[in-house]
Amino acid sequence: MPSEEVAAVGSVMGDAETHASARGSHRAAAKAAPRRLVVVSNRVGPIGRDKAAQGGLAVALRAALERAGGLWFGYSGSISERPSETPKLTIDRNITAAVVDLSRRDFDEYYIGYANRVLWPLFHYRPSLVGFSRRALAGYLRVNRSFARTLAPMLLPEDVVWVHDYHLIPLGEALRQLDCRQPIGFFLHTPFPAAELLRMLPNHRDLAAALCAYDLVGFQTAADLEGFRDYLLRQGGGEDLGGGRLRAFGRIVQAGVFPIGIDVAAVAEQAAAAEESRQMRRLTSSIRDRSLIIGVDRIDYSKGLPARFAAYSHLLEHYPQTRGRTVLMQIASPSRSDVPEYREIRRELEAAAGHINGRYAEFDWTPVRYLNKSFNHRILSGFYRAAGIGLVTPFRDGMNLVAKEYVAAQRPDDPGILVLSCFAGAVRELGEAIIVNPSDLEAMAEGIWQGLQMPLGERRERWTAMMATLRRNDINAWRERFLTVLEAAGAGR
Ligand code: UDP
Ligand code: G6P
Repeated sequence: MPSEEVAAVGSVMGDAETHASARGSHRAAAKAAPRRLVVVSNRVGPIGRDKAAQGGLAVALRAALERAGGLWFGYSGSISERPSETPKLTIDRNITAAVVDLSRRDFDEYYIGYANRVLWPLFHYRPSLVGFSRRALAGYLRVNRSFARTLAPMLLPEDVVWVHDYHLIPLGEALRQLDCRQPIGFFLHTPFPAAELLRMLPNHRDLAAALCAYDLVGFQTAADLEGFRDYLLRQGGGEDLGGGRLRAFGRIVQAGVFPIGIDVAAVAEQAAAAEESRQMRRLTSSIRDRSLIIGVDRIDYSKGLPARFAAYSHLLEHYPQTRGRTVLMQIASPSRSDVPEYREIRRELEAAAGHINGRYAEFDWTPVRYLNKSFNHRILSGFYRAAGIGLVTPFRDGMNLVAKEYVAAQRPDDPGILVLSCFAGAVRELGEAIIVNPSDLEAMAEGIWQGLQMPLGERRERWTAMMATLRRNDINAWRERFLTVLEAAGAGR
């Protein structure tokens, strides 16, 4: 999409917020731009640059849309008694967000009940947390069909549609049933489970068949793709046609690995600019000459936070030199508090932080700073830069953007070191981090200790290698790669 034309649309519309037919208001943009990108995800935005986004998907899609421009359709984040079928539009430069509310029942069944109490735990290898009900599944399918009915009339023949994440797996099939013929791709931000785990879902066949309705299905890592391929071949009577094409359920789908990137240049710039910020000065003066260890996560059981706290406690216990000399700052942004398991883990973490501080704190030193809130990227980038160690230890994570952001935010002449779980998708690209198994507390404590001791030369070597990888596959490269393959796959259909 030529950027001058997009900029012209953005500047005419300004930051206006309006209720309108997205198709109508986009006609002018569509005429000027032959291929409009339509991104669909449950969570949308915020599309303004300086606002704190909730989770990696929102951060990544905002960055991905920044250069390409386009329409971003999904859930507004609000519940209303009688949700309007007409989406609410917000325009910021070249991005238009079109969002719809959900009814309480839809929210409970689709978002809480099926997406976050069935698919999320299963895809993160926590089958014991899965609470399947037919009612929730029906809600999931109903909302996907309703999203398709709202989106279909907004689509132009020359659009390319890119659906994101586990909330919307059946959306592509529902759009096809409404006769949408545009190329439609799907990207899964979470892990995809091994075939045997997927089989635990009563509706596993329908879900896999729905994935095959897309022209292209993208995964974060080769292991995720392998789970999908293996399922299709062994459970779906499928066939590998070569070149990433799979035939199953009477359909042909292209599948591939597209590890998501970050806006490396923007994070590095923000981090450098933050050196002078009030927040960073306050942080560094409060840390003094101690080593700062930082963790940044949504409060989610997949992130391994209680184990991380236990590892830090182990470090203080068994490496007494670290007492009074280190601070663990854990930013834990509240998430999905309507789901009981999330409320439970929040309580557990509060207790764990209190326990460590109660045991080790001195009158002039508190080992754990536990912050139960969100920060915007500008502030966060400065915090990453101030920390000598970035601690990213999920039990499972599709990618984990925090790991990448931490590396991108470091000072080139004196970079900190990343301690990274072997179960984060990011480990496939960031092999120069200190890699730990989050089930092994001692290994995590050793990893932190190793990081604290690491000489400057080695830190620089590791950082340079990781930065080269991050720059090669930044958010723009990721978007372009996916869309190029999608166009080709769509053309072949
Ligand atoms: N994030 C943020 N403010 C916060 C905490 C997190 O903007 O207070 C962002 C963080 O910078 C990252 C994203 O949220 O871009 C989290 O993505 P990640 O892939 O690490 O995990 P997810 O939450 O998607 O599971
Ligand atoms: C993960 C998921 C996203 C989700 C985000 C925040 O990154 O892959 O789809 O948007 O977490 O979760 P929430 O439920 O608040 O949207």
